[in-house]
Amino acid sequence: MTERPDSRARAGVGHDAAGPTEPVTGPSPAGSVTAPVTGPSPAPRHHRALYGEGAAIVCDNLVRIFKVADLEVVALQGLDLLVDPGELVAIVGASGSGKSTLLSILGGLDVPSAGRAIVANHDLGQLTGSERTRYRREVVGIVWQQTAQNLLPYLTAAENVELPMVLEGRSDRRARAVELLGLVGLGDRGDHRPERLSGGEQQRVAIAVALANRPAVVLADEPTGELDTATSAEIFALLRRVNIELGTTIVVVTHDAAISEQVGRTVRIRDGRTSTETVRRTELTDEGHHRAVSEEFAVLDRAGRLQLPKAHIEALELSRRVRLRLEEDHVGIWPDRERERTSGVPGAAAGGAGAGDGAPASRTPATEALADDPEPGGQA
Ligand SMILES: Nc1ncnc2c1ncn2[C@@H]1O[C@H](COP(=O)(O)OP(=O)(O)OP(=O)(O)O)[C@@H](O)[C@H]1O
Ligand SMILES: [Mg+2]
Repeated sequence: MTERPDSRARAGVGHDAAGPTEPVTGPSPAGSVTAPVTGPSPAPRHHRALYGEGAAIVCDNLVRIFKVADLEVVALQGLDLLVDPGELVAIVGASGSGKSTLLSILGGLDVPSAGRAIVANHDLGQLTGSERTRYRREVVGIVWQQTAQNLLPYLTAAENVELPMVLEGRSDRRARAVELLGLVGLGDRGDHRPERLSGGEQQRVAIAVALANRPAVVLADEPTGELDTATSAEIFALLRRVNIELGTTIVVVTHDAAISEQVGRTVRIRDGRTSTETVRRTELTDEGHHRAVSEEFAVLDRAGRLQLPKAHIEALELSRRVRLRLEEDHVGIWPDRERERTSGVPGAAAGGAGAGDGAPASRTPATEALADDPEPGGQA
């Protein structure tokens, strides 16, 4: 898996706002700041239509609000994400951060309250009912955590794999099912019903089902969540093989560090937005050895918002608003000590932070350390 700096860089183009001084609109959860308010001129106009061009998955300011009685749960709060064709991406994040909500939208099972989701050139907000049904059958394959949710219990493994092809009216489905069961290492289990298969074998069949109609994208929501460590590793190795050999774009939600550490890119979701990305690549040492390098980045969304890691916020007691200064090769962020002195209320209210109240007069060693640290190290 290679590093894909282009996908992150692309997130910065196609800015819809008139310019960097325009106030930020939209939800802004605690711990978010907007940067920079002053800075280089916006991208040339001809770049503006390019957000996500060429990407297999484009999430543009995705919002999903669930209404429960009188309460609104904002599961996705303006999430931006680009996934390149052929990429294998892991999505991680705390329980309730919005991972399954995102996958349901990408899988065509749910619709966003606002924003756009485009998968393999299908704009999911624009599909009619029948187009959506076709999309779910042909363009995406989904593997769920619960083995029982993936397969029909009264059909054999081979019949389960054939089912999506029956609905497509494909005549070569028996041969394709045999081929797929061979691919997932279950060539001799085709006539077994799910109850006669182990959990790991059922997930293998589920992967074969997901691949039946040669989808562009496979979405897996904690596919190894019910499996032991050794079986999880096998299932993940299978997903990797599918990704490499078939070129299928795969997005896998996981709590399993052993999995998220093996992919080229791990995207962390926090409070319904992408917050950090860890990118891994191998590099050649001076001695000619390959060395794995992993680097964590904070995600800058298209409006210029970024989520500071909680550890950074706590270390400098940042709250409500911060001072920013554009340096030659970085942006410095300082606590608003002035406000605390005059108001006498250190760290008053939480919430979306304003920005750009002017550069601080001087640097303190603590802020210097943050400003010069190229890596947002902490975790939410
Ligand atoms: N159908 C629904 N109705 C109401 N609220 C929902 C619904 N689905 C999800 N939510 C809420 O949206 C938020 C995000 O849920 P989601 O299932 O996407 O989280 P998750 O990251 O997948 O969590 P987990 O790791 O526990 O699976 C949660 O607060 C959840 O309670
Ligand atoms: Mg979930």
